[in-house]
Amino acid sequence: MWLNGHCLGRKPSGYGSFHYDITKFANYGGTNELAVRVDASRFEGWFYEGAGIYRHVWLVKTAPLYIAPEGVFVWSSFSNNVPSGAATIHVQTQLINYQSNAVDLSLKCELFDPDGRLLSRYRQPTNMDDYSKMKLEIVAPFWLGGAGNAAADPRFSAVYSGPTPILWSPESPKLYKLVTTIESDGKIFDQKETEFGIRTVAFDAKRGFLLNGRPYVIKGTCNHQDHAGVGTAMPDALQYFRVKKLKEMGSNAIRTSHNPPAPELLEACDHLGMLVMDENRRVDETPLALDDLRQLIVRDRNHPSVFMWSLGNEEGRLQATNGTEAAVKLITPMQALAHELDPTRLCTIAMNGGWGEGFSKVIDVQGFNYRTRNIDAYHIGFPDKPAIGTETASTRTTRGIYADDKSRGYVAAYGENGVEKPWTWWSYYAKHPFTSGGFVWTGFDYRGEPTPYKWPCISSHFGLMDTCGFPKDIYYYYQAWWTDQPVLHLTAGWSLLGNGGKTNLVRCFSNCQIVELFLNGKSLGRKFMPENEYLDWNVAYAPGVLSAKGYQGTKVVAETKVETSGSPAALKLHPDRTTLTADGQDLSIVDVSVMDESGGAATGANNLIRFELRGPGQIIGVGNGDPSSHEPDKALQRRAFNGFAQVIVQAARQQGTIELTVSSPTLSSDNLKIKTKTDKSSPAVLP
Ligand code: GAL
Repeated sequence: MWLNGHCLGRKPSGYGSFHYDITKFANYGGTNELAVRVDASRFEGWFYEGAGIYRHVWLVKTAPLYIAPEGVFVWSSFSNNVPSGAATIHVQTQLINYQSNAVDLSLKCELFDPDGRLLSRYRQPTNMDDYSKMKLEIVAPFWLGGAGNAAADPRFSAVYSGPTPILWSPESPKLYKLVTTIESDGKIFDQKETEFGIRTVAFDAKRGFLLNGRPYVIKGTCNHQDHAGVGTAMPDALQYFRVKKLKEMGSNAIRTSHNPPAPELLEACDHLGMLVMDENRRVDETPLALDDLRQLIVRDRNHPSVFMWSLGNEEGRLQATNGTEAAVKLITPMQALAHELDPTRLCTIAMNGGWGEGFSKVIDVQGFNYRTRNIDAYHIGFPDKPAIGTETASTRTTRGIYADDKSRGYVAAYGENGVEKPWTWWSYYAKHPFTSGGFVWTGFDYRGEPTPYKWPCISSHFGLMDTCGFPKDIYYYYQAWWTDQPVLHLTAGWSLLGNGGKTNLVRCFSNCQIVELFLNGKSLGRKFMPENEYLDWNVAYAPGVLSAKGYQGTKVVAETKVETSGSPAALKLHPDRTTLTADGQDLSIVDVSVMDESGGAATGANNLIRFELRGPGQIIGVGNGDPSSHEPDKALQRRAFNGFAQVIVQAARQQGTIELTVSSPTLSSDNLKIKTKTDKSSPAVLP
């Protein structure tokens, strides 16, 4: 990156955030030229990583006395790392004085509770030399739920003893806020708001992961940063959309495989309640690589959602993980740096084999990638080592497909194809608390890694949802065993495959005790649902309605049905939101479904759909979840794939009404109004 011809620096990794101080090189009052050269032609991953600039870039203007970038670190602690009694809030601040004179200043910290009420103020006077940097470590300016420590250190005159802390968890994501202000000469020089959560994380070799002192099973998914229509350049609202989708499935954790995430994903996880395993890109102990790791931790350590650091994935599978001394040498300084920068979290590394050797010898928490059948043997050998399922499953399915089709690159959706079937790994992990639970490969499909078929297939099939976030059948296996709500789902192959007289496999995902299947109202019998499993029926095809009832004892708690589809007749729009912030960023993610004449789903429909938009917004991308589609994502049309497509609408910086119309030659069209509001009180998703 160059400013006005001066080389500011270069970064070998496109994932980490970085900043340059351009004070010296800026042309004040005149024109400035910033040149950025991005070269993504080397060091590519085995998945599609995107290229160019696809995350936010900010120009930050400060006073000459200011809080350093990422200069506030706030964390909480409890004695014995169990949340009872008082929470001690620690604050570390880095300040920069870019002036030719020394200054007297005061650093003010204000603590706000999750309802936005000011709990306490703390002020510390200090001074700084000219052109200097200073780290101010304020040990426990605030205590919550205890007697305070005013007596312990007379400098802290404003030590506050507040009400019992409200803990953060995925189920109750309550955030506190620290406002840091620098004042000098009666003027405010800088101010920064930092959200944080109060919670404890720990690992126990027998009980697994502990959140707030209690065993907490990770029901996680690994994900790349990639969505239909936009690729890796995901606007912030999409991060929220995807986290919500995962939560609806019952997931409580994301692994940001295999790189540092966009900060906005972590904000979404903090606010919506989703744990994050935050992953480093490169396993290396050279100064450059350690600097990347430092940046990741310093940037992300305030987020309560981040519960541990992953130092890497399947690195040097052939060499390092297989027990060489090199593995120990690589990981030791990395882990030491993580501990130094963050006293609250442990580290893992995702290992596909070699367990007990190499990295395993030093890493805090053993990470298991796949190989569920080997976990027992490992645990017998290393009963005192905490562990977590860093990567599991890699089950390949295509939404709405019920027979493998190599020529089109589609895989049947029953869940049989893959490294592990969903029930193979989950039924083991669910019964073995020491594993802590694990992360499915993956929550959403992504570009690249088409498996098991190659070109013309271009996307992966590992997702529990496709690239648009439309659920596949095995999504419901996880929803059944990851939530408490009654779930009852029948594979929809019935409506597609039925061709008279053939016997079709009907697979049912449910958490109901008993499931009864009906064909056109006639019972085909009841079956008991084994825990963490599924049920199969073989049913001779007859057109009509295949339905099911789910029982808890004798009570019907869920019902579902699959109908023989008629011909495609109509389009229907389903926006995730109809009021947007008019900020040039906010999104409505609009699903399109194709319906048949009777208003049921036209399951196999692939009609070409056209999109037309009027008003203060634009269509930034379209998709359909078809892993073999070569249609452009930046377009005003898209074919449906097995009955669905998606269009992403972005608000302009202008208040008004967007009108979206979808049409297709032989189908009746649909339209939709989306309001854009400059008023900040409109129900925007973004915090
Ligand atoms: C894993 C790897 C992932 C993905 C997956 C596909 O070994 O960590 O990135 O490639 O295999 O099954």
